[in-house]
Amino acid sequence: MSEGGRLVIVSNRVAVPRKNSPAAGGLAVGVLGALREHGGVWFGWSGELTERDGGAPDIKTRGNIDYATIPLNENDFEKYYNGYSNRVLWPVCHYLLGFIQYNDAEFEGYKRVNAHFARKLASLLKPDDLIWVHDYHLIPLASELRQAGINNRIGFFLHVPFPAYQAFRAAPGHEHLLRCLCAYDVLGFHTPGDLAAFESCIREPIIGGELLPDNRVKVPGGELVADVFPIGVDVDELRQTAAIAVHSRQVRRTAESLKNKHLIIGVDRLDYSKGLMQRMLAYERLLEKYPNSQRLVTLMQIAPPTRTGVRAYDEIRRGLEQASGHINGRFAESDWVPIRYLNKGIAHDPLMGIFRFAAIGLVTPVRDGMNLVAKEFVAAQDPDDPGVLVLSSLAGAATELTDAIIVNPHDRDDVADGLATAINMPLKERQERHRAMIAILKRNDITAWRSRFVAALKGHHH
Ligand code: UDP
Ligand code: G6P
Repeated sequence: MSEGGRLVIVSNRVAVPRKNSPAAGGLAVGVLGALREHGGVWFGWSGELTERDGGAPDIKTRGNIDYATIPLNENDFEKYYNGYSNRVLWPVCHYLLGFIQYNDAEFEGYKRVNAHFARKLASLLKPDDLIWVHDYHLIPLASELRQAGINNRIGFFLHVPFPAYQAFRAAPGHEHLLRCLCAYDVLGFHTPGDLAAFESCIREPIIGGELLPDNRVKVPGGELVADVFPIGVDVDELRQTAAIAVHSRQVRRTAESLKNKHLIIGVDRLDYSKGLMQRMLAYERLLEKYPNSQRLVTLMQIAPPTRTGVRAYDEIRRGLEQASGHINGRFAESDWVPIRYLNKGIAHDPLMGIFRFAAIGLVTPVRDGMNLVAKEFVAAQDPDDPGVLVLSSLAGAATELTDAIIVNPHDRDDVADGLATAINMPLKERQERHRAMIAILKRNDITAWRSRFVAALKGHHH
């Protein structure tokens, strides 16, 4: 195979430039970061809904990236995206089995859209392209491409946790998905725990896979490589962006409005996996248990709505509005409000500026594949006077950022105590923890993520 093949990235969500970008997510941020330097093709859903199925993909070239996108019709969007992807796969991958809502028509829609993606993509491919598929929406894509006669190397990266078999088997259709995963040449996961969970599934009799040396796995019909590739950030770029943005008008005004208060910042899509309700209750616990923290801190929670066609997402919104209203009502004074709850997103650059002056980054998902916000928060800090990260043990990032204050998001007292420790942490300890975390972020940065995966895909593993 030629060394010169294009990198063709495929994902449901594509960060198509110059559009009002929808709720940001780690996948789009990470893929864009990976493509910016290397260049390539990015194929996926345009974010638009149409009546017709459309013709050839729409192609826009910006710099060294070709964005090739297709619309979805409303029925496919509802069944494939809202339906099987977000009502079955999202909850099962996050071990939140009570949120699963399954029906056959949605599973059929999921498979149909994957076949549709494969047909549209096949028309663009060249023989030496390297194909890198992303996330749970597109698990069957390689097997569909193979059926369409595509023999290129195809890799898959999962941005969400991979569930252990005892969880995964709760999802109707999981047998089919496991067989589909066997059609890839390389499978990538964020953490060793996710890789182990995948291996537990593949050894089940329905697949009967066998683990071989060098991360190789023998599966029916061939062999693949399954390994850990933690997604990262561009550390220097984020630090510089943050250092500039902190002086921008928007960020300065925010900082001034918080005068003398320690800012605790949370930034999450409004998703039940992010543990937002638990977080508010833990913050309430902080104010109760450590009355001195009242008037000293402000929690700013930025929570852009996401997947609004799915009932569980609409419900969580109501619950949080009530909880933040309740806490503010209980503790607010005429000159201090404990929680600022924003139901919208903030653009990347000002966000990095806000991270830089924040005292504490509060990242407490009840389960998360990686969580880029945690990494961005650390990268954005001033090394001479860094803020403190309070991080859920159930986020993938906790396996790397062991120098954060690690807490269990389900344990209110643990989170409240972690916040109190962070508020009182001496400068020297903050600097030491920050330095240790930056070293790890640099080793596993966004370039390392891409180049290690691409090397594996080329068959140059190790
Ligand atoms: N993000 C943003 N503005 C917002 C909310 C989020 O730019 O208002 C970005 C955030 O900086 C990060 C990504 O969206 O790069 C979220 O990724 P993460 O892995 O933390 O969570 P996900 O949304 O993928 O579950
Ligand atoms: C997570 C998922 C991504 C998804 C993102 C935003 O990061 O792993 O696949 O793109 O959330 O969600 P959305 O449904 O808006 O694409």
